[in-house]
Amino acid sequence: MFVPLYDSLKELKSSVKLVIGQDDQLFSGLYEKLEPFEKVVFLIDSNVYQHWKTRIDEEFCRYGERGIRFLVGSGEASKRFGFYRDLIENFLRAGVTHDSAVVVVGGGTLGNVGGFVASTFQRGIALFQVPTTLMAQVDAMIDFKHAINLNDAKNQVGTYFEPNLILVNPAFLRSLPRREMSSGAAEILKHGMTHDLRLLDLASDAKDSGEFESLVAATIKSKADLLSRRGEDWYSEMAMQYGHAIGHAVEHESGHSLNHGEAISIGMVATSHLTKHLLGHDLIKEHRGIFEDWGLPTSCLIPLHRVLCAMVHDKHSVGNSIRIGLLSRLGQLSRHEEEDYGFLVSIKDVRASLLNFFS
Ligand SMILES: NC(=O)c1ccc[n+]([C@@H]2O[C@H](COP(=O)([O-])OP(=O)(O)OC[C@H]3O[C@@H](n4cnc5c(N)ncnc54)[C@H](O)[C@@H]3O)[C@@H](O)[C@H]2O)c1
Ligand SMILES: [Zn+2]
Repeated sequence: MFVPLYDSLKELKSSVKLVIGQDDQLFSGLYEKLEPFEKVVFLIDSNVYQHWKTRIDEEFCRYGERGIRFLVGSGEASKRFGFYRDLIENFLRAGVTHDSAVVVVGGGTLGNVGGFVASTFQRGIALFQVPTTLMAQVDAMIDFKHAINLNDAKNQVGTYFEPNLILVNPAFLRSLPRREMSSGAAEILKHGMTHDLRLLDLASDAKDSGEFESLVAATIKSKADLLSRRGEDWYSEMAMQYGHAIGHAVEHESGHSLNHGEAISIGMVATSHLTKHLLGHDLIKEHRGIFEDWGLPTSCLIPLHRVLCAMVHDKHSVGNSIRIGLLSRLGQLSRHEEEDYGFLVSIKDVRASLLNFFS
C-alpha cells in the first residue's frame, strides 16, 4: 500500500509521487507502476543487496523475463565516467530499449549515476528511484539533479531529469550504519539551519527515539517547499548549498576519507566563522554543538591553502570569489541589498576568516 505524502508536487509542476512505504513491503506498489514497461533494469547497491537479499530477490522474481539486474559497488568511484560508460554498454548488451525502465535501489551515489544513465540512455528512459540512505531519502534523491564526476571534479557532468516515481521507505534505514545516518542528518540539519528550525527539534527527537518516519517526511516537505521557490531569488539555491562551497573542498582534499555529510558538517561550521563578528560567540557555539550532537566532525587537519585552492576550482566559484549563503541567525539566511542571498566572498576574505579554523 502506498501512503501518499504528496499527490503531486504541484509547485514543481511535477508528476512525481513521493511515498512512504511499509515496513513489511519494501517495494510497496512498485510492481504495479512498472507493468507497462517491456524491460525493467534494477541497479542495486551491493551493500543494500547484502542486507536485504531475500526481500529484493522476492521483488525481482516477480518481473520474470522482463527483469534485468546489476549489482553496483558504492562510493564516489561509481560516479566515474568509465563506470557510466560500462553501464551504458551493459544496457545495450542486455537489450534495454527506450520502452524500458530503470529502478535505482541505493544511496545518493548510485542515485546520481543511475539517474544520469536513465536520463541519457537513448535520450532518456523511465526512472524509478528507491533511496536507501537517510541522505538520499531526504535530500540527494529529492531533486531532479543527476551527475557524475569528471576526473577529480565533483558533479561536473549532469542533467536535470524527472523520475517517474521516488519510493521512500524508511524501513531501509534499519540496516544503515550509524556513520551514514549521521551523514544524512547533516543535510537535515542544513535544512533546519537555513529555513526550517522545526527540523532541528524533530531531528533531535528522532535521534533519541530511533523513529525516523516523521523526520524523513518533514524534511522532504521542507525541501519541496524550498525547491518551489527556486528561481525567485537566491534563497533556495543558497540554502541547499549551505556549507557546500567549503564542504566540497574539504571532501575532495580528504581524499573522500570524509563522507559527504561529514565534509559539509565541517563546511557549515567553517561558513559560520565567516560572519563570526555578526553571529556572536554564543550562536557560533550553539551552531557547532548541533552537529557535534550527531557525532559529526566540526574541524579537520587539512591545511587551509589546500581547501582554498579546491574552492577556486569548484563549479560554484566566480573568479577569485565564491557565492555563498550566510546565516543571519539560526533558521534564516542573510540578505544583502545588491547580492540578494548569494554573497560574493573573495578567497582573500575567506582566508582571513578561517586562518585559525584550518591548520
Ligand atoms: N543531487 C543532489 O541534490 C545531492 C544532494 C546530496 C548529496 N548528493 C550526492 O549523494 C552522494 C552521497 O550519498 P549517500 O550519502 O547516500 O552515499 P552512498 O550512496 O555512497 O551510500 C553510503 C553507504 O551506505 C551504503 N548503503 C546504502 N544504503 C544502505 C542501507 N539501507 N543499508 C546499509 N548500507 C547502505 C552504501 O553501499 C554506501 O557504502 C554524494 O555523491 C553526494 O554528492 C547529491
Ligand atoms: Zn549535500
